[in-house]
Amino acid sequence: MTLNPRIVDWQGRTAWIVGASTGIGRATASKLHALGARVLVSARSAEGLKAFVDQHPGSEAAAVDATDRTALHQTAAALVARHGRLDLAVYCAGTYAPLRATAFDLDVALRHQQVNYVGALYLLDAVLPQLLAQRGGHLSLVSSVAGFRGLPLSLAYGPTKAALTHLAEVLYLDLHGAGIGVSVIHPGFVDTPLTAGNRFAMPALTTPEVAADEILDGWQRGAFEIHFPKRFTRMLKLMRLLPDGLYFRIVGRTTGR
Ligand SMILES: NC(=O)c1ccc[n+]([C@@H]2O[C@H](COP(=O)([O-])OP(=O)(O)OC[C@H]3O[C@@H](n4cnc5c(N)ncnc54)[C@H](OP(=O)(O)O)[C@@H]3O)[C@@H](O)[C@H]2O)c1
Repeated sequence: MTLNPRIVDWQGRTAWIVGASTGIGRATASKLHALGARVLVSARSAEGLKAFVDQHPGSEAAAVDATDRTALHQTAAALVARHGRLDLAVYCAGTYAPLRATAFDLDVALRHQQVNYVGALYLLDAVLPQLLAQRGGHLSLVSSVAGFRGLPLSLAYGPTKAALTHLAEVLYLDLHGAGIGVSVIHPGFVDTPLTAGNRFAMPALTTPEVAADEILDGWQRGAFEIHFPKRFTRMLKLMRLLPDGLYFRIVGRTTGR
């Protein structure tokens, strides 16, 4: 269903991806660059960003920690000063460490909240004035199927992704009338540094390149929710509908134990 202005032609459009030194963000930035977009990549690792720029002539890098509100503001201001507009802002920064209630670690939980959720609020604060002034552009938040319902080992990660998904829905309601697109991305398992430490079988594991193709396809279709790989995410969407007792029995038996 077409819920957003469709983005069909990337030529000359300005795109900023926060969390683009590796994985899904990097692959998406690479494809946008290939389609003619002016891409700004951000993450903490200056080295990873430099490697991207070296391989993608004309692209730009700004090393920032997404938990640094001032740095995001300055980066957004400099981007708008250089290019005069912002067509796409993507929040893809994320961290994951397994956590259970039986070995609760408050610092780990708060770190997830800062990187996975509060950083997205900082990005909004940095770019919304420009998007509203333009009456256009697109905001995309990379959430996760782990935000659909509670999962084992997901005590720190899952709630931040549920919050991001909810945030995207509210943003859509608020911004659609102003001509600003909003999308939320729900990847299943993707083979990236984030999942490299997982000790359990990851069903329907896919690559960052396939993930990037799905994301670009979603933006082109004007989708609000972009989820993949469908053979996995459709099943999890169905599991959202299960009664609590049945859901807890199935999930408690199958993952991360
Ligand atoms: N892989 C999966 O199976 C999967 C599934 C569902 C959702 N996701 C989500 O997809 C997004 C991308 O993850 P990925 O799988 O591609 O993992 P990844 O390769 O580890 O990418 C994470 C990106 O976030 C950046 N980042 C981390 N902390 C940051 C911070 N404080 N400030 C700025 N940038 C930061 C990392 O760069 P630096 O370390 O250089 O800062 C990196 O560029 C994440 O939001 C993740 O939760 C992934």
